[in-house]
Amino acid sequence: MTYATISGWGKCLPPAVLNNDDLATFLDTNDEWIYSRTGMKERRISHVDLCELGYVAAARAIACAGLEADDIDMILFGSTSFSEFAPNTASYVQKRLGASKAACMDLNTACTSFMYGLTTGTAMIKSGVFKRVLVIGGEVVSKLMDWENRNVAVLFGDGCAAMVLEATNNEEGVISETLGCYGEHRDILKVLGYGGQYANKNIMLGDVAWNFEGQDIFKRAVAGMNKASKETLEKAGCGVDDINLVVPHQANVRIIEAVGKKLGVEADKVFVNIERYGNMSAATAPIALIEAVEEGRVQPGDLVLQPAFGAGLTWSSHLIRW
Ligand code: ACO
Repeated sequence: MTYATISGWGKCLPPAVLNNDDLATFLDTNDEWIYSRTGMKERRISHVDLCELGYVAAARAIACAGLEADDIDMILFGSTSFSEFAPNTASYVQKRLGASKAACMDLNTACTSFMYGLTTGTAMIKSGVFKRVLVIGGEVVSKLMDWENRNVAVLFGDGCAAMVLEATNNEEGVISETLGCYGEHRDILKVLGYGGQYANKNIMLGDVAWNFEGQDIFKRAVAGMNKASKETLEKAGCGVDDINLVVPHQANVRIIEAVGKKLGVEADKVFVNIERYGNMSAATAPIALIEAVEEGRVQPGDLVLQPAFGAGLTWSSHLIRW
């Protein structure tokens, strides 16, 4: 049986930091409100486009795997904030890396984009189509932010992460997953007008407006991640006691705590880094996993559960043997 192990990883976090006090200089908000409601203290803001963040994260992941760009068979780029409608951004990364043998594809499932990419890349390796797939999850939410809307402007940050998947006979990488979408509720989290592709007479090309029903998203995020996680564990024949660490999508620390509680996992087995970065959408889950590894919270052979949730409303959960 072929599996897809994660053999290399890299992240790219823009150096510019926007903290809660900075936000309070131009929005009617404050550090106490933001921190107590979300767990966020600061987030990063990128001065370059997503494609450059993707290139840096990808180059680091390939070096970490001990490979050359030429070794990569496919590049999958997951995001909601691509700067061009065509061509795709994976092709930019291919060009910058010199990964001329790689097939290139973008995908957008909002905050779950990296996780959907992880399933797609893993399936391609397991089916024998490719041997090495580079999966990228990145976002420059700052470029599609409505900076006059305090309901959303405080919640997000920019960042990018990449992982190399390689064929192996060892039972490593994604060993079980569940993906889904509550399409009937898609309107409760929507970015309108960005680039003008959504017909809306009140929004001009290039302007941005958000439909964002925070409390409704909150409840559905908890329910969706809990359901996906239980199904994922059941498919693998595992229980919560088998998990070494839960590394959830980081949209709100209260969502993370509620998911851990519903799953019956102790707080010290749930990884949280939201304080430093806010919600980086597609980059959030992979950066959290990379930082858990860097901090020694994940060791070779450990079982990691990664539930995620995003606009769509898409949801997912992955059980990963590290
Ligand atoms: N600063 C100060 N006050 C604010 C701010 C702000 N930045 N934003 C909203 N408020 C006010 C509201 O106007 C409201 O005032 P009112 O009572 O006078 O009407 C009050 O604070 C309370 O607002 P609530 O919406 O009840 O606050 P809540 O505790 O629900 O927290 C939050 C809001 C943080 C958005 C929460 O609902 C949430 O995290 N939702 C889900 C996160 C999310 O949607 N992430 C997006 C991506 S999807 C995903 O990644 C899962």
